[in-house]
Amino acid sequence: HAADALRTDLMTITRFVLNEQSKYPESRGDFTILLSHIVLGCKFVCSSVNKAGLAKLIGLAGETNVQGEEQKKLDVLSNEVFVKALVSSGRTSILVSEEDEEAIFVEAPKRGRYCVVFDPLDGSSNIDCSVSIGTIFGIYMLKDGGEPTLDEVLQPGKNMLAAGYCMYGSSCTFVLSTGEGVNGFTLDPSLGEFILTHPDIKIPKKGKIYSVNEGNAKNWDGPTTKYVEKCKFPTDGSSSKSLRYIGSMVADVHRTLLYGGIFLYPADKKSPSGKLRVLYEVFPMSFLMEQAGGQAFTGKQRALDLVPKKIHERSPIFMGSYDDVEDVKALYAAEE
Ligand code: AHG
Ligand code: MN
Ligand code: MN
Ligand code: MN
Repeated sequence: HAADALRTDLMTITRFVLNEQSKYPESRGDFTILLSHIVLGCKFVCSSVNKAGLAKLIGLAGETNVQGEEQKKLDVLSNEVFVKALVSSGRTSILVSEEDEEAIFVEAPKRGRYCVVFDPLDGSSNIDCSVSIGTIFGIYMLKDGGEPTLDEVLQPGKNMLAAGYCMYGSSCTFVLSTGEGVNGFTLDPSLGEFILTHPDIKIPKKGKIYSVNEGNAKNWDGPTTKYVEKCKFPTDGSSSKSLRYIGSMVADVHRTLLYGGIFLYPADKKSPSGKLRVLYEVFPMSFLMEQAGGQAFTGKQRALDLVPKKIHERSPIFMGSYDDVEDVKALYAAEE
């Protein structure tokens, strides 16, 4: 009867989260409602990405964002979809998006208990060539009542209640952690539902892949240079690691989570804080890595211990298999 059970026992995201929520007697379903609005945004972006070329969605929007990046039409469109979906959920008070210079403070009547930080479209440089892209998000609980202020979102990543991403690749995959491990869901387009396909994801303790933009090698610091050298010319008799770099953080992290290995965007002379943004790229992916048994290191400290001072702050990041990140930590420790 297993086959029958499969057909009738559809473990959707909503059902999965409701099960998790049942552990919190005081929960009123607010988180489930919030998540259902994030999922709605992802379904919209997925359908837009799948017809980007047809719907004239490739190319530039003709604007530049606070990062100094030329915004793509899909960046702007997906940002608007997520902002509207989150505000309309009535469960958020502050939103931080890569595509908005300032934090968005939700009007009082629509306010809820959560702050959401998100990258509506990650890997924008890959949109026009149809390579995998994604959406990344993290969720904080408002610390206390009263008028929400910016320091409600300038919290260390370890305070996040939940984090996740949606990858728009050969299949649309939603990966989520609410602090009880990591689970992956795949969109069944015929149902318009994300179904549990990767229960309890655990990252291998050590991997055979390293993932970095080697084009920045001339600007790396000593420990990073030494680490990448060890990946290519191991001195302990082990075989060299393979290099896989897609250039969309969501896709590189998803592969690292499932296959093991390490993803790094190190500091370099040109960008001493690296490129990736703390709130909506580094924190959510570090949260997932730790929940899956891996770890995430900034070159100085555990990534989730960072306390951001600005909403678009950047940090170097090394994340992935526990043992691989340990090797990086040893090289930075030796440098001190
Ligand atoms: P975004 O498209 O949201 O601005 O993020 C792009 C990021 C991330 O997705 C990826 O890991 C990194 O940029 C790639 O940077 P390089 O092209 O410098 O390697
Ligand atoms: Mn960008
Ligand atoms: Mn990004
Ligand atoms: Mn982005």
